Amino acid sequence: MLPRRGPASGGTAVLTGTPQTMILSRIRLGNFRNHAATAIELGGGINAFLGDNGQGKTNILEAVSYLSLTKSFYASGDSEAIEIGTGGFDVEGVLVSDAGVQHQVSVTCARLPQAKRFLINGSPPERLAAVIGRFPVVVLSPEKGPITFGGPGERRKFMDLALSQVSGAYLEEILEYRKALRQRNRILTNNRAKGFLPPGVIEPWTESLVAYGSRVAHRRAMFVTDLRSHIVSAYRTIMPEAETPDIAYVCGFAAGEGADARAYAASLSADLETRSTEERRRGLTLAGPHRDDLLLTINGMNVQRFASHGQHKTLLVAMKIAEYSYMQERHNETPMLLLDDVFSELDKGRVHRILSFAAGLGQVMITATEGTVFGSSIAWGRQNRRFIVERGTCRQET
Ligand SMILES: Nc1ncnc2c1ncn2[C@@H]1O[C@H](COP(=O)(O)OP(=O)(O)OP(=O)(O)O)[C@@H](O)[C@H]1O
Ligand SMILES: [Mg+2]
Repeated sequence: MLPRRGPASGGTAVLTGTPQTMILSRIRLGNFRNHAATAIELGGGINAFLGDNGQGKTNILEAVSYLSLTKSFYASGDSEAIEIGTGGFDVEGVLVSDAGVQHQVSVTCARLPQAKRFLINGSPPERLAAVIGRFPVVVLSPEKGPITFGGPGERRKFMDLALSQVSGAYLEEILEYRKALRQRNRILTNNRAKGFLPPGVIEPWTESLVAYGSRVAHRRAMFVTDLRSHIVSAYRTIMPEAETPDIAYVCGFAAGEGADARAYAASLSADLETRSTEERRRGLTLAGPHRDDLLLTINGMNVQRFASHGQHKTLLVAMKIAEYSYMQERHNETPMLLLDDVFSELDKGRVHRILSFAAGLGQVMITATEGTVFGSSIAWGRQNRRFIVERGTCRQET
């Protein structure tokens, strides 16, 4: 079984003691998007994928996200990733730990009947969710923009993805929470239609909602507390001007600074009690972490309402760098950083600062249309490699 990297915060830690860094040394894509058969030997530092638009650079990063998260980092279905005209894709990766131990991971997806299978060293994991966090990634791409300008759901996704990768317990809790929420909403909708709620039907789900919802909120609150200082310093790294971003956790049943999960449970329970008549009338669960948000500000001003385009972009990069630093410092995990198409969006100064930052990290995969963005800041060789991507093929530049 592939060990979780470093001591996880509860849940499925398999390996304790010395944290390890896992390097993706090889990846193979078969019938994945426009890659019929592509094999890549990666370096342990910066891996740059260069090529014109539409050649298949992003697709390579997407394949890596399948190995890490079991799915695409875009909101796209599995069958869309299958090369048109073929029956299914297979993506395979070889991970090498600090100690030199190799692990083979693979994901295959058939079109009809649609079936996705994951194998770690030849054996299926007990559940697909158990794969998450074993080879963590942080993704930065223009598609992540809605984190700063979109609706609250985008920011909840940001928290969920970061936390699920570092804490198996969180992943478990959020999945159980969503289940309780679905069941409870179904009961409330039925009740509204029929005007009758049999006794004892909703209570177990309310209990479950409170138990898991309070733990989810508590972990999110701690995450945001940790993330704050990282965001400020990351923002300064990319934009040395006198702007100070901040982030705050917005929870409808907040239990105050430093509150424990039990305090969140009491508060959520009380909220549900207060709103029970309204819930029955509207057929909907009206309290819980599915309504949380993050308040993002720059110099005290609400980002969603007042930030410029450039401030949005800088804050997004800062949040992603902060997520990376959080995983590294708080959980001893060194994630893979996937930077898709970030340079076309930013000015030279910022690109340079992000690259200097990335050069000091672990393994990074970057896509760009022009190799010139790298200037002379990277020493290419064994560790840092350049690849040319062309019509669904990829070869290392020598
Ligand atoms: N399921 C699929 N089967 C075959 N080809 C696909 C599939 N999905 C996408 N493609 C092709 O993949 C190509 C896009 O690849 P990708 O998004 O990786 O390009 P890119 O190199 O990142 O380009 P850009 O620089 O514009 O971001 C397009 O040519 C598209 O037609
Ligand atoms: Mg792309």
